[in-house]
Amino acid sequence: MSRSAHPAGPRHADVLPEGHYTAPAADLNVLDPKVWAQTVTRTESGSVSVGGIDVADLAEEFGTPAYFVDEADFRARARAWRTAFGHDADVFYAGKAFLSRAVVRWLHEEGLNLDVCSGGELTTALSAGMPADRIAFHGNNKSVEEITKAIEVGVGRIVLDSFQEIVRVAHIAQSLGKRQRVQIRVTVGVEAHTHEFIATAHEDQKFGIALADGQAAEAVRRALTLDGLELIGIHSHIGSQIFDMAGFEVAARRVVSLLAQVRDEHGVELPEIDLGGGLGIAYTSDDDPREPHEIAKALGEIVTRECEAARLRTPRISVEPGRAIVGPTAFTLYEVGTVKPLEGLRTYVSVDGGMSDNIRTALYDAEYSVALVSRTSDAEPMLVRVVGKHCESGDIVVKDAFLPSDLAPGDLIAVPATGAYCRSMASNYNHALRPPVVAVRDGEARVIVRRETEEDLLRLDVG
Ligand code: LLP
Repeated sequence: MSRSAHPAGPRHADVLPEGHYTAPAADLNVLDPKVWAQTVTRTESGSVSVGGIDVADLAEEFGTPAYFVDEADFRARARAWRTAFGHDADVFYAGKAFLSRAVVRWLHEEGLNLDVCSGGELTTALSAGMPADRIAFHGNNKSVEEITKAIEVGVGRIVLDSFQEIVRVAHIAQSLGKRQRVQIRVTVGVEAHTHEFIATAHEDQKFGIALADGQAAEAVRRALTLDGLELIGIHSHIGSQIFDMAGFEVAARRVVSLLAQVRDEHGVELPEIDLGGGLGIAYTSDDDPREPHEIAKALGEIVTRECEAARLRTPRISVEPGRAIVGPTAFTLYEVGTVKPLEGLRTYVSVDGGMSDNIRTALYDAEYSVALVSRTSDAEPMLVRVVGKHCESGDIVVKDAFLPSDLAPGDLIAVPATGAYCRSMASNYNHALRPPVVAVRDGEARVIVRRETEEDLLRLDVG
């Protein structure tokens, strides 16, 4: 992770512990548009607004902690992906990043397809009107019930992840009198530059079927013989929060070479390839994400070039961005509860949420930014660690950041870029109530996922 050396200047720099920190912004009141949703701005009164509504009003109406999603930004990003890939390609939003019925409707309206990886995601998608044939079903261990439902409702494709699943899906389809469109997920043997837990294309892991030792070619051979399956293509997903396009290019090249091998062996040109999701977003000002049109251009060129070289018809490309669409569009709003300076170390700022609404810092050592949003401040920057209210010291939301040194209980602070994998990975640890997701657009705010209540907790507790 890129870190600059110790900043010089501010009073608190004198007491910085060993280590490297991103230097505090020259003016902590300035919000870097790279990490904040599009409509987030500082108002004249000094507080911050999103979609034209002041965060203080949002906090009063919806409480804290809460996630606020900038609907206009979500739609704009979805549209940018759709436009960048054009009519010869498909964009499947990865629902695991964050899924709700409102989101499904936005996607549908903006012309995107949807990738789901569980019966729960499938039900949510269908209940909000996503046509089944625009849904792709993923997962390395789909249950018989999930497969059956997916085939019965007519999902556009099931992505097969193992030899057993090839047979399982074929049998279920056949018993339902159907022929299911499928892709085979392969591992292309790329070491993606990201956290180990979210890298998925090296061979030593649970997803997919390896290209390297001929396993993937064998999987194609078997799938082509089974009546219940219509093999439409090959799928590769190399990992998540990746900035370097090189991994995608290697993946594309290897997938195309499998297509050529399949053509040579079976006389069949598979019509589709899916290159997965995984494009990185800016969590801090140090991150420099690619724009969808750059990604579309790079992928399109490499696939076309490789196909020409192999004298293959260029297949239809699909991609599955999750984080890159929803991640930057939301922030989490917290109220500061306590401010605890530790002399010679740092200041611990405790907020009213924590690892139950954002597990990514604890799980992946993820970096986040943070800002004081209920007012401006000219106080000097102080090095802070933003922590939650859970019963463990690993309950960290933002590991190292700077906030004004006059920060006090009652202030509102916000952590940007929490749209992906925060609400979707939220938990009830310590019986915390999962925060609501509120969509804000053109001066209107509406709850799209409500806050959990203690009644919700007790409803599940039937003992
Ligand atoms: N397609 C497949 C097959 C996937 O497994 C994933 C993510 C995606 C697409 C979407 O990837 P994205 O564009 O969102 O990076 N919980 C982790 C991320 C896990 C990603 C799992 N698969 C995190 O918080 O960083």
